[in-house]
Amino acid sequence: MKIFIDTGNFKEIEALVPLGIIDGVTTNPTLMAKEGGDPKQILKKICDLVQGPVSGEVVATDYEGMVREGRDLASISEHIVVKVPFTQAGVRACKTLSGEGLRVNVTLCFSPTQALIAAKVGATYISPFVGRLDDIATPGMELIRDIAEIYGNYQFKTEILVASTRGPMHIVEAAKMGADICTCPPAVIDSLFNHPLTDIGLKKFLADWEKAQGAATR
Ligand code: E4P
Repeated sequence: MKIFIDTGNFKEIEALVPLGIIDGVTTNPTLMAKEGGDPKQILKKICDLVQGPVSGEVVATDYEGMVREGRDLASISEHIVVKVPFTQAGVRACKTLSGEGLRVNVTLCFSPTQALIAAKVGATYISPFVGRLDDIATPGMELIRDIAEIYGNYQFKTEILVASTRGPMHIVEAAKMGADICTCPPAVIDSLFNHPLTDIGLKKFLADWEKAQGAATR
């Protein structure tokens, strides 16, 4: 399963890339707005660093505007994936941009029918938002299971990009369901590393080692 970072912050990405587990990046208008500056320049820097798929989202809401913005975003780098919201204009723009050979991430997916439609218009990625569904007392991971079943039935190539992840259990469940990608905020990536028994075990190993070294020199 691939792991993407869900942030527009270059420093956060720069800190995690050396771990060797980061396969790509997702951004959205909220995340980019937090950064200030020129979004295209930031995306270019991220693409150059990550050398993998980096989703940049359009802010137009009409078909023509989305296509224009999508082409413009794609001109930043070969690594850019154009992100469009799941609306009728977004679906149409996905069909057009995918037809031109661009990669498209259809975002704000909250139902299996939306995922089915995105696959039919050639989306490279579908982004179901599990955390936001959990927030309204609807089990987000059930959506992932449904999409995986539907895509499996028809061998759609669209990859399931689990988005709006809030903690390690989203990642565990996504991996068990065979989701292609999880995009995680940096704090969630950090949480994947933590286990108290690892910390306790390492402390004990080092203490035993130090004790033996001390005994050998006495
Ligand atoms: C995905 O591409 C989105 O940027 C993101 O996962 C949204 O997460 P949120 O619900 O925590 O804002």
